[in-house]
Amino acid sequence: MINALRKKKPEIEEAPAPAPRPEEAGKRWAIEARGIKKSFKAGQVMVDVLKGIDLLIEPGEIVLVMGPSGSGKSTLLAAVSGLMKPDAGSVIALDINLWRLPRHKIDRFRLANCGFIFQGFNLFPALTASQQVQIVLKFMKLGSKDRKTAADAALNDVHLGHRMHNRPDRLSGGEKQRVAIARALAKKPRLIFADEPTSALDGENGNVVMTLLRKMAKEQGATVLCVTHDARLAAFADRIITIEDGRITSTNADPAMFANHH
Ligand SMILES: Nc1ncnc2c1ncn2[C@@H]1O[C@H](COP(=O)(O)OP(=O)(O)O)[C@@H](O)[C@H]1O
Ligand SMILES: [Mg+2]
Repeated sequence: MINALRKKKPEIEEAPAPAPRPEEAGKRWAIEARGIKKSFKAGQVMVDVLKGIDLLIEPGEIVLVMGPSGSGKSTLLAAVSGLMKPDAGSVIALDINLWRLPRHKIDRFRLANCGFIFQGFNLFPALTASQQVQIVLKFMKLGSKDRKTAADAALNDVHLGHRMHNRPDRLSGGEKQRVAIARALAKKPRLIFADEPTSALDGENGNVVMTLLRKMAKEQGATVLCVTHDARLAAFADRIITIEDGRITSTNADPAMFANHH
């Protein structure tokens, strides 16, 4: 039944590979997305949300994608990270042509390599902070002792050591956000995808989180793709990409442009 449904889906239209620009030639990318398009149906009409996006990110880079609300940031993140198949284009992540893989292999790729920090926290109401983090490590088949050690370390990293045994109803919004971040980082993913990771955080906690993401990138070689409209994050990025109305408007925006907006 499910297979029959899958077969009816149109095959993804591959973007023609454009000739690399001189500065791109021979480079190895952690993420190489080309020609990404996505449309959604809104009532009777199709709305083009991503209109052909190329995104090239080096290993160990922290890239911020900034743009107004509704410009397609979350959709782009989902397409690049294997969460939502684009209508057109290709994504090569860690040398894997992601959307060519069957669904279960994409899921396995994400489990093995990706950490996600979402706008919503997606915490389980019945689990303590420590258990929230450990459950991911259990999926990765870590033993119970290693799980506990890694979860404790990750929660300490986001300054939540004292909240380890609290359930979500006893945590503030900012603390929940930091649990979600600890959960994403505990498995030391090679790719980190963050969607408005500091939206529930005050300035100080926002700094804690961004400092941690920088550390993951610079000490462990993780590649970080973070979408946000929070100008305060500009200072933590290696590079800022701007997006407007489904198109990239700059691949190397000047952080100073954002510094004065707050
Ligand atoms: N699943 C969906 N179905 C229909 N429209 C969607 C869906 N996801 C996003 N959109 C629309 O696409 C546009 C871009 O959304 P999004 O990528 O979430 O923007 P951003 O993250 O930059 O605020 C918005 O107009 C939004 O309403
Ligand atoms: Mg969004």
